[in-house]
Amino acid sequence: MVFTRERTRVGLDIGASSIKVVELERLEAGVRLVRFGEVELPPDVIVDGEIMDRQRVVEAIRELLASSGISRRRVVTGVHGRGVIVKKIAMDRMEPEDASEAIFWEAEQHVPYDLNDVSLDFQILDVDMGPQQMQVLLVAAKRDLVLNRAEIIREAGLVVEAVDINSFAALNALEAAGICQPGEVVALLNVGADITNVNVIRDGIPLYTQDLSLGGNSFLQAIQKAHILSRDEALQALQANPPEVDLQGPLEEFAANLSGSLDKSLHYLRSSGEADQIDRILVSGGGALIRGIVEVLGERQAATVSILDPLQHLDRGRASSASSADNGVSSQLAVGIGLALRKE
Ligand SMILES: Nc1ncnc2c1ncn2[C@@H]1O[C@H](COP(=O)(O)OP(=O)(O)OP(=O)(O)O)[C@@H](O)[C@H]1O
Ligand SMILES: [Mg+2]
Repeated sequence: MVFTRERTRVGLDIGASSIKVVELERLEAGVRLVRFGEVELPPDVIVDGEIMDRQRVVEAIRELLASSGISRRRVVTGVHGRGVIVKKIAMDRMEPEDASEAIFWEAEQHVPYDLNDVSLDFQILDVDMGPQQMQVLLVAAKRDLVLNRAEIIREAGLVVEAVDINSFAALNALEAAGICQPGEVVALLNVGADITNVNVIRDGIPLYTQDLSLGGNSFLQAIQKAHILSRDEALQALQANPPEVDLQGPLEEFAANLSGSLDKSLHYLRSSGEADQIDRILVSGGGALIRGIVEVLGERQAATVSILDPLQHLDRGRASSASSADNGVSSQLAVGIGLALRKE
């Protein structure tokens, strides 16, 4: 019997402000964007990565698949937020088969949840890290978070191929863009509506991974507070071009928070001796569309700041309307692209 390998893969990124879907095709010469789409969600359907209104999400997924013309039923999705913990740990050197057992005992010290309630995964980063030690990336995700997402997707009539970590998906997208130089320490800020995924990497290896409860909604709240506006009024004021109210103060406040988290990561990397500076900062997610974000971050950080265009090195095919980095659509698709790039 001949098994035909599916050539395309679909990433489904369920975000607080919108659900994004991306279908990619692996070609001999690279990766092609086949189709993509987005459907907005009203506020409070998803809060801080947790789904509050299941039915609304199920309907939105159905609607999105239909409108984007994607017929493939198997999808890769991701989780992020408080229920996801990524930590670099040192453990006794051993074979990967043994490590998968030992990781459970190691996790006990590092994961603040009952281990019966989490899914564990790991990746050996460095087998030779001092005497008889190896460095391992420990990944723990609350099982209900993972199961809940998978169930909702199934309810929408799809099959869940894998549940990944959004932060790593964003890193996949960064890697595919082919812009990181050897030895360069790169920070990726994937700025969503409620959550920002912070990653610092060098040569494709994660040095620091953290999800912050901070995103475009924090910026919106800062606008509301500064000008005493309702959410809708603030949105309207923000979307007007030029903006109807002064946004510089709220933007500075938002950038200071983001920048502070980068300072924290750098502090950690310096004290662990892993890196002494961040060479380059890239911004992805819908937050990359916030006007002035690159400039205000650049004022606070020594590194050069720019917007990630994850389609830069991909074949855009006929889906060329996603091609322009300056309309930002592409950077907002970073997680969806990264999910669809999953190799196994
Ligand atoms: N045209 C725009 N102008 C300014 N900001 C924008 C624009 N489009 C999107 N954003 C910002 O991007 C945010 C949404 O980004 P994104 O789609 O990455 O979030 P999400 O994936 O839905 O949320 P999360 O990842 O937090 O669950 C909005 O909250 C808004 O702040
Ligand atoms: Mg998101």
